[in-house]
Amino acid sequence: MRVTRPVPPCDLAREARAMRGGLEGASRRVFKAGRFIDGEEGHAFEGEFARYLGVRWAVGVSSGTDALRMALTVCGVGRGDEVILPAMTFVATAEAVIHTGARPVLVDIDPKTYCIDVRALEKAVTAKTRAVIPVHLYGHPAEMKRVQEIAARFHLDVVEDAAQAHGARAAGRRVGTFGRMSCFSFYPTKNLGAFGDAGLVAGRSPGDEKKVRRLINHGALQKNEHEEVGFTARLDELQAAYLRVKLPFLERWNQKRRSLAALYDRLLQGLPIVRPAERRGDVHVYHQYVIRCGSRDRVLRRLVELKVGALIHYPRPLHLVKSLCYLGYRKGRFPVSEQLARTALSLPIYPEMSPQDVQAVVAALRRALAGTEVPR
Ligand SMILES: Cc1ncc(COP(=O)(O)O)c(C=O)c1O
Repeated sequence: MRVTRPVPPCDLAREARAMRGGLEGASRRVFKAGRFIDGEEGHAFEGEFARYLGVRWAVGVSSGTDALRMALTVCGVGRGDEVILPAMTFVATAEAVIHTGARPVLVDIDPKTYCIDVRALEKAVTAKTRAVIPVHLYGHPAEMKRVQEIAARFHLDVVEDAAQAHGARAAGRRVGTFGRMSCFSFYPTKNLGAFGDAGLVAGRSPGDEKKVRRLINHGALQKNEHEEVGFTARLDELQAAYLRVKLPFLERWNQKRRSLAALYDRLLQGLPIVRPAERRGDVHVYHQYVIRCGSRDRVLRRLVELKVGALIHYPRPLHLVKSLCYLGYRKGRFPVSEQLARTALSLPIYPEMSPQDVQAVVAALRRALAGTEVPR
């Protein structure tokens, strides 16, 4: 097959080159201060991100997974509790629940937005349910108003997993401002990515902030004063300084993702695929642009031959992931999640992409889809 124009799944080296001056300045500031944990960069970034979101506080942590683990622990989730989450998400959402000693209870997803099915959520609540984790999957907001109503009715805590949705909005409000706490990942490929692992917990209650700060620092707010058994889960100064350089670009980058998505939407019309949806009144930030297609694995192989960096998020819903099989859910239990896992294909989308790149991906996809039908 003749390759028209190779398009990688993302281009982090190009992004870093474009910001080189700012990043080198940030490194110099940190080396000069000689403080690599719990310093000015971290505190400044926390304030800047909290202002960006519109929340009272934000605490930088070592990863998105640790953000979830800390938030759940602060909510008091532990052994004997159940936490409800969607069957289709990255495995980390369930791992964080398991790390607290609680049991993840999976529910299916909405067939349009791919976020938690709120009717299934309502049905899954038991006397043991302590919290729910709506995941803003691929950058599309979960149905937060309904999640909040259900949580209030059953006295559940809401911990948002916003790892894929920095800047997305539901009903005019940024995701990450709805739950008791919200969790972000700054894994390098995220809409706001660090140069290593990093994450953040945001919230409103000053009591929760204090508990998160204590927990990430061996249970101590002051040196040698360990009030509880905690973790090492702090954000380091270099990552915070780099994130401060990148945060002012986040809105522009999200806009760029949205315009690339709009171009994909236009160019993909008429092809035998299902395009991503955006619920009216919501703002999707396209961490991933996920289509659904028939003969997905064959289409993916053809795209890879054509040097298009398409990926699968995710090939298995959580109940069919080996490490989580012990939960005891059978194949067929979450049909919408299973259908998405069978047919999902993430097309390249990142701010450095050009309209010509999108055209090249669509041209390659047209060829790769030959002989396939709209997926069921
Ligand atoms: C939905 C979701 N939740 C949680 C995480 C965990 O974040 P991290 O990789 O920073 O631990 C990720 C990131 O990969 C994610 O996509």
